[in-house]
Amino acid sequence: MKTPNPFYYGNEVYDDDFCNRVQELQELAQDVSSGQNLLLYAPRRFGKTSLLKKLKHKLDKQKDYKVIFIDLFSVSSIDEFIQKYFNLIINSFENNTQKALRNIKEVLNIRPNVTMSINETGNISYSLSISKKEQNQTLEDVLNLPSIYAKKFNKKVVVIFDEFQEIAQLKFEKKLRTILQSHSREVSYIFSGSKKSILNQMFSDNSRAFYKSVKHFHIEQIKLDEWIVFIENKFKQTNKEIEKRYIKQVFDITDGFPYYMQQIMSMIWEKTSQNADDDILKQSLELIIQREYDLYSFIWSSLTPNQKNTLKYIVHVDGLNLYSNDHLQEFNFSATTLKSTLEALLKKDICDKKDDRYYLVDPFMKYWLETIG
Ligand SMILES: Nc1ncnc2c1ncn2[C@@H]1O[C@H](COP(=O)(O)OP(=O)(O)O)[C@@H](O)[C@H]1O
Ligand SMILES: [Mg+2]
Repeated sequence: MKTPNPFYYGNEVYDDDFCNRVQELQELAQDVSSGQNLLLYAPRRFGKTSLLKKLKHKLDKQKDYKVIFIDLFSVSSIDEFIQKYFNLIINSFENNTQKALRNIKEVLNIRPNVTMSINETGNISYSLSISKKEQNQTLEDVLNLPSIYAKKFNKKVVVIFDEFQEIAQLKFEKKLRTILQSHSREVSYIFSGSKKSILNQMFSDNSRAFYKSVKHFHIEQIKLDEWIVFIENKFKQTNKEIEKRYIKQVFDITDGFPYYMQQIMSMIWEKTSQNADDDILKQSLELIIQREYDLYSFIWSSLTPNQKNTLKYIVHVDGLNLYSNDHLQEFNFSATTLKSTLEALLKKDICDKKDDRYYLVDPFMKYWLETIG
């Protein structure tokens, strides 16, 4: 039988597919236990969901915790949010349906009709009837449930909102903030997201409800040393080998971005019968450029000529001293155009800035740009 590929890229990863993040995990658990609310921002494909699911797994093993994980990515209306959140909360606290229905009636202020159904996989789902008139009150009630259950069952509750920026479109930020604020002792909230510009506005703009309400939790790239152990092991376990220098080359191109590390390693592994070599690395990178071509050219075609030139400029000068006269002259840019274009690129989450250096948020997009240009 063919050995399955030991690398995985796509959605969140667990167990043996999860590399390191030991320290982050510990710090997250620590913060949550002291009742901190957290904002965790990182670009897409950076491993946020994997880390947060791992935190959930870790805390779920402790009897005094209940963790509710809600992915907001697909939620496009308040009603949908209410139903989804309600279900997740009830299902994590109640395992007896009759009791659940009784409890729900007891803890909700309004008396909605709650119906229950069981799907093919045996999972129970609850549905609230929400009249237009009562939507507001129902929303409040459901938002308060984690706190009510925390007290009722004497548990510490952690609610993880993944892709939290989607909430911004649903127009109940103020209400959400007011209610969550009142749960300070018994419930900790983690807001995670991948759109920095939107999250920044939500949490750092003093006119917005969530202004300064959280600790900003940073996650860094997974270090090269960690990747080396992880990747060498996976090769060894499947009777193949890869030299460290290839891992380092891939790390340099991907900046250690977890998704791309796994994606490229998966290709290299596939093409390797015993030992990875230069040709295999080259072919794998070409293949990935082809695969990701549609995505990057889609983003590329949505940019204005100035924005395109600015990205090339950033890559060319390695993001440093963008406003130096020599650089500006070489690229025939005016400082004012550059400034406004950079702002637009930051807003689109294509570029970001760390200390004094500008960079492309997606490191593989940079590589793509270098190869096509
Ligand atoms: N800790 C990790 N170790 C190894 N690979 C990871 C890790 N975290 C993420 N990945 C890789 O990145 C991919 C995307 O992870 P995910 O958690 O969905 O990222 P995000 O939620 O930030 O978009 C995974 O399929 C996996 O290939
Ligand atoms: Mg995610």
